[in-house]
Amino acid sequence: MKLNQRKDKNTQYTMCWLDYKRCEDENYINKVLPFISNIYIVENNYYIRNAALELKEGLRSVFGIDPIIQTNSYPDFKQGTVIGKLGNDVMERFISKTERDKVADEGFLIKSVTNDSKSIIVLAAKSESGIIYGVFELINRLRLKSDLSSLNIIENPKAALRIINHWDNMDGSIERGYAGDSIFFSNGRIKKSLKRIKDYARLLASTGINGIVINNVNVRGKAVWLITPKFLPQLSEIAEIFRLYGIKLYLSINFASPIYIGGLSTADPLDPGVIRWWQDTVKMIYTYIPDFGGFLVKADSEFNPGPYVYGRSHADGANMLAKALLPYGGIVIWRAFVYNCLQDWRDTKTDRAKAAYDNFKPLDGKFLDNVVLQIKYGPMDFQVREPVSPLFGGMEKTNQMIEFQITQEYTGQQIHLCYLGTLWKEILEFDTYCKGEGSYVKRIVDGSLFGRKYCGFAGVSNIGNSINWTGHDLAQANLWTFGRLAWDPDRSVEDIAKEWILLTFGDDKKVLENILWMLLNSHRIYEKYTTPLGLGWMVNPGHHYGPNPEGYEYSKWGTYHRADTKAIGVDRTSKGTGYTLQYHSHWQEIFDDMEKCPEELLLFFHRVPYTHRLKSGKTLIQFMYDSHFEGADEVDVLIQKWEELKGKIDENIFNRVSERLKMQKEHAIEWRDVINTYFYRKTGIPDEKGRVIYP
Ligand code: GCU
Repeated sequence: MKLNQRKDKNTQYTMCWLDYKRCEDENYINKVLPFISNIYIVENNYYIRNAALELKEGLRSVFGIDPIIQTNSYPDFKQGTVIGKLGNDVMERFISKTERDKVADEGFLIKSVTNDSKSIIVLAAKSESGIIYGVFELINRLRLKSDLSSLNIIENPKAALRIINHWDNMDGSIERGYAGDSIFFSNGRIKKSLKRIKDYARLLASTGINGIVINNVNVRGKAVWLITPKFLPQLSEIAEIFRLYGIKLYLSINFASPIYIGGLSTADPLDPGVIRWWQDTVKMIYTYIPDFGGFLVKADSEFNPGPYVYGRSHADGANMLAKALLPYGGIVIWRAFVYNCLQDWRDTKTDRAKAAYDNFKPLDGKFLDNVVLQIKYGPMDFQVREPVSPLFGGMEKTNQMIEFQITQEYTGQQIHLCYLGTLWKEILEFDTYCKGEGSYVKRIVDGSLFGRKYCGFAGVSNIGNSINWTGHDLAQANLWTFGRLAWDPDRSVEDIAKEWILLTFGDDKKVLENILWMLLNSHRIYEKYTTPLGLGWMVNPGHHYGPNPEGYEYSKWGTYHRADTKAIGVDRTSKGTGYTLQYHSHWQEIFDDMEKCPEELLLFFHRVPYTHRLKSGKTLIQFMYDSHFEGADEVDVLIQKWEELKGKIDENIFNRVSERLKMQKEHAIEWRDVINTYFYRKTGIPDEKGRVIYP
């Protein structure tokens, strides 16, 4: 396998969907000019001014005009864009009480006020972050040539926490990073130049993100020291950049920091010395970063220390940190990714899928209000398909965030095109039935189902310092979609993807049509030639790329799918490992029953003979063969759709994507052949259609 990671040191990176192109439509330009020829800010504050500059730059690039930002003279507001906070006298002239009441803390209102003498856009928000989100929305509307005279938008994010998690290490490497090195760290230091970080903040703000954890959840070596004065002065500069764009800085911490940094002999969360040490540490962090978001903690998982070491519970650990952060408004984001990676799963009752629920369900109601449990979307580990984690809907008295992996660890590592929006949307629309019908995951993570304050979305970043940020240019769509779904999980993914294409590539009809098809079908195609029916894994140990049917690092304890010559899959029903018992009865019954279980998850929940007939009438083994042949063939359709766009897309981007699609094809063939051969050897059952399967 050749991972093609370009450094492109001397080349200017792209700005993805913020690469503003000049509007050529004279008619539209003439219509909008009056609305944008001046920018008035009614409060000359640093953050609002930055937002106004962002707008000015956008207008300059898109329309070639240079509006003046006016701060202290407010003529009669006949023409231009007026920006300010709700409650300000000047703004109130344009806004009704009903409108004002509809705008939430981070939301915004944009509307036009037009009559014979006026062409005004009013952009108002309660907070500075609302204003910056509103500015990006306005620029986008202008780029998409919205009719300004009827503009009337009130937008509020549905979830309070919309956070990107970086798995960046201080040596500059990125755990599971496929787009170059870290933009934050190199050689054990924090990078001096803030330019790229600022551009990154702009990209994130334009999708509605409001938090960022810049270091890996596996906190080792120098990264343990990030919470000390050795690094805090520089971190405060980074925090200020993000603050300009409405984004709070968070840090991953090592639970044993009191030992590593504090020289204590224990990290026991109930030890008074440990409690004091964390209180002092938190106090100091806030002297550098007054709006510091809080800590992200991976504890008792994959060799990271945690409260179990001291016979304490995860609630003891999380609450101790939460108490230290509470006076400053900080939160603890505690990961539910806790399992024993060394457990022997040849014992048929042992099931890693049960681990998160088993560890955390008994703690429901025991966490303080400023603790949030961050739960991977499925019970395993970001596989191409998994059922929704039963913890959603299982913990009614706990704040919850859903964790998605934007970086494509198990979904093609940004060599394969695999748009994840379709998968995420399905997960968010899953009805847990925890409060009866309509208890969707999206309503749990936006906090509304249980009326909780701290809930939301975490996405493991797919960016690095490559020229296009994401390695595969089309993987930018995953970052965009994560932000937009976190802002509003009710939006259709098709709509979100369309908007990304229009903003990134312009409004050519063919470009829109083809790329949309590619994005919306890519996850299904990837699944077909890799691990359909909920199989998952089957990847090479360590780097997790490419097929290896009995691979995975802990495979000495058995394969995940337990394939033998007669059957494959894990019986996770109530009669098997008992995993289905973690769901509410509605799903328990469905998942327990091989006939009712959604077919795409069949082998996740059931042990099935290869000769079993699926709904289509095909045997399981024939389905496997067909799926792999079809999936690998369908990569040709992706290639063809892309090739049809030659000449319509920037040449560099076109070539980069072509190159990746070519690799995808080669690797899809490898997947097809390795997996089909594996099954053929196991079962001795030939392909009914007589296609070549390498014996
Ligand atoms: C996966 C991944 C690890 C990562 C872990 C986590 O297992 O392979 O690199 O550290 O998830 O989410 O903590």
